[in-house]
Amino acid sequence: MKQKVLVTGGTGYIGSHTIIDLLENGYEVVCADNGINSDTSSLDAIRILTGVDVPYFHIDLCDLKATETIFVQHPDITGIIHFAALKAVGESVEKPILYFRNNLESLINILDMSIKYEVKAFIFSSSCTVYGDVTTSPVDEKTPLQEAASPYGRTKQIGEKIITDSIKNSQVKSILLRYFNPAGAHPSGLLGESPVNPPQNLVPVITETAIGRRASMTVFGTDYPTRDGSCIRDYIHVVDLAKAHTLGLKYIFHDKQESPVDIYNVGIGNGLTVLEIIDAFEKVTGEKLSYQKGPRRPGDVMAIYSDYSKAAANLGWKPSLDVEDIMKTAWVWEKRRSQK
Ligand code: UD1
Repeated sequence: MKQKVLVTGGTGYIGSHTIIDLLENGYEVVCADNGINSDTSSLDAIRILTGVDVPYFHIDLCDLKATETIFVQHPDITGIIHFAALKAVGESVEKPILYFRNNLESLINILDMSIKYEVKAFIFSSSCTVYGDVTTSPVDEKTPLQEAASPYGRTKQIGEKIITDSIKNSQVKSILLRYFNPAGAHPSGLLGESPVNPPQNLVPVITETAIGRRASMTVFGTDYPTRDGSCIRDYIHVVDLAKAHTLGLKYIFHDKQESPVDIYNVGIGNGLTVLEIIDAFEKVTGEKLSYQKGPRRPGDVMAIYSDYSKAAANLGWKPSLDVEDIMKTAWVWEKRRSQK
């Protein structure tokens, strides 16, 4: 019998790519999203790519009653992948209450339902931001967490603790995936990052600038003590990242996880600077990018990249795509999106 998996935030960027991977691996999927930063065009793309019409609940998980309707209609859900959350670091500094209320209340509600409806596996979108301002990289899962640099980061730190405490005496087993910097798009060109709000993340800012949606862009800080002065991050292709969720579910469904909660870094373990990313974009696409060098962005960490050996050893996960794949697919997607 097929396992049924609820994907919250399923019309969003990482959620929609993960739905494709789940369907390709024989899972049945139910999607929930409040649609505030994505729309159902991703479900149309999923239908074209997989032939599956994924059931969709347009609901806000902060509404417990509405959340329960999913489980009343689908009491056979055995796994949940919880993506739904606000994720703009700068906005979270301006509106901390909004972030705490939205990201934590929705998490508490979905955990409540997971326990009540005897869900077996719960995968949580955490972030490398939980490590805070680290002094050395690579970081592994045992690296001590520093003070969060933003309320967004705090919701991920607190979220990890809420899950750990809540499921302790239940049947639920959980995996916390700490994502590094997801980027790129589906190789079909039909699916990619398409946020309702203007993106703040580096790769969509680059492609939007190159296509002319933005006049130019700024490199935030070129005076860091790194090889070229700009910040170092670990950019992971969204298709590789999606696979980590499916493998995490499998691990729990196959009773391989002994502890109630386990944590995995999901990055490719290769740190690249902002200027190297721009260089990769220009090389892969042949486009010349108009950018200026500017001051540091408050809250930015100088350098962080992952040690993902635990995910490789336990989940059998390893990245197969690199920065060139990221740029190629992100650019194809941007060109398609801009024609609409
Ligand atoms: C941060 C969080 C990440 C979170 C993500 C959500 C950390 C370490 N990472 O990623 O966990 O999921 O936000 O949005 O806290 N940059 C520019 N110009 C731009 C945009 C970005 O130079 O216009 C630079 C940034 O200064 C940074 C790099 O590009 O050095 C990546 O930035 P971004 O894509 O925003 O991601 P993070 O801040 O690393």
